Order: sequence, then structure tokens, then C-alpha cells
Amino acid sequence: MRRSPAGDVPRSDLPHGDLADGEDLPEGDDKRRAVRAMFDAIAPRYDLVNRVMTLRMDVGWRRRAVDRLDLDAGARVLDLACGTGDLCRELTRAGHLPVGVDLSFGMLAAARTSAPLVQADVLRLPVPDRCVDGITCGFALRNLVDLAGAFAELARVLRPGGRVALLEVAEPPNPLLRWGHGLYFGRVVPRIGGWLSDGAAYRYLPRSVAYLPEPERMLAMLAHVGFVDVGRDLLSTGIAQLVSATRG
Ligand SMILES: C[S@@+](CC[C@H](N)C(=O)[O-])C[C@H]1O[C@@H](n2cnc3c(N)ncnc32)[C@H](O)[C@@H]1O
Repeated sequence: MRRSPAGDVPRSDLPHGDLADGEDLPEGDDKRRAVRAMFDAIAPRYDLVNRVMTLRMDVGWRRRAVDRLDLDAGARVLDLACGTGDLCRELTRAGHLPVGVDLSFGMLAAARTSAPLVQADVLRLPVPDRCVDGITCGFALRNLVDLAGAFAELARVLRPGGRVALLEVAEPPNPLLRWGHGLYFGRVVPRIGGWLSDGAAYRYLPRSVAYLPEPERMLAMLAHVGFVDVGRDLLSTGIAQLVSATRG
């Protein structure tokens, strides 16, 4: 088991603040426990902080993700790591039949959606093979302990021809914008998070980007498990990304 910087406390016994301030970012079960504890803690004000720190752009990004699924109304869609249900609501609005899945009971308890919700790990979805038409996932890929395993699970549960739309944070390609965004994400967002919610959680947010593979690698990982038409759009000058693909 990995040790805290103090050396004598198992990482898994530390509060989620260790995610933000520990020397290394945790991996494996330590990461899963800390991520879950963090989202349980920030759930009550999660939506408010999202709206403030993105100036409501997150609402449009989720709408874009649902459009990008390009599925007929009535499609069965799993919203993975659904959190408080924003994407489930967009999916319902588009006429789909979403089911939300999340690890954090706190987030599920704070959810505002009419969709059925299930507490489960994205890496072990409690659904049969090839049973859904679409999958969405908003801003959670970097929180998973095994991204390749998660993509394989997506491929398992989607029917052939089914679609995925995955939202994540990103860094703008333009150097000046990247610098400005780095300042905002690294300095301003943790302060906003600290005032409105939980400082440690929002100090973790910019650090957690380090878990994400390079974009080309992420697209190759999807192709490797059987997805075709794999593509990536940058949103709002590149501060967010939308990855989409079709199950081959
Ligand atoms: C940044 S929030 C995103 C919530 C929502 N998708 C949205 O767009 O606002 C990340 C979510 O991922 C969930 N999560 C993290 N790891 C997970 C896992 N292994 N399985 C299921 N949910 C997970 C967290 O509990 C949290 O609700």
C-alpha cells in the first residue's frame, strides 16, 4: 500500500484533501476511494460551482454531446459517471431513455433527474453485453483508475452501431489561450471552489488533468477495443473536448 508523504498513514485512510495536496496523485484503489469521498463531499454544491466556473458553458457542452450521439428518439443510453444528472436531463429532453450510473452515493442523492440511477463502477457495469444504443460520460475519464478497462467495458455493453459521446476538460492548442486557461484553471478555479464548496476538491481538478492520455492516444485506445469513426472536437476554444465514436 502506498504511504502518505508523512510516511505512517496509509493513503487510503487519508481524507480526499490528499488528492489535492499529496506529492503524487494516487492510483488504483487509493484513487477510487479518494475520488468517491471527494464527490460525496462536494455533491451538494457541485452544480453551482460548475455553472460559476464555466460561466454556464458546461450546459451547452452537454447539449452538444447529446446531439453528437446522433441516435433516434427512444434510444437506451447509459450516462456513465452521471453525477447529479445533468446529462441524464439532456438525454431525456432529447427523447432518449437514459439510465445514470455513478460510484458516489452523495452525487446520486443530489441528482435532479427522472432517469433511473444505479450506484456502480464504470469498470464493472451491471448490464449484459450489447444491450444499449448509446453511452455518454461527462468529465469523468480522468477520475477512472483504468481508462483502457473502461473503454473495453463501453465496447462490451454497446450494440454494434451504438454511439458514445465523451466530454472531458482539455487545454487550448493556442499558446496564449493555454497560458490564460492554465492561470484560470490552476489559480482562479480552486479559489472559487474554496469559497463556494471545498478547496481541496477544486485544487485536485487542475492536477487531475495529468491522468488524461494525449488525445491521439485516447482515440487509439477506443479504436483498439473496436470503435470506428473515432473523432474529437474541441469546444469553446479548446477548454473542453468531445470524443465520439461508433461501436464497430
Ligand atoms: C466531474 S463529475 C461529472 C459528473 C457529471 N457527469 C457531469 O457532467 O457533471 C465526475 C463523476 O464521476 C464519478 N465517478 C468517478 N469514478 C467513477 C467510477 N469508477 N465509476 C462511476 N462513477 C465514477 C464521480 O462520482 C462523479 O460523480
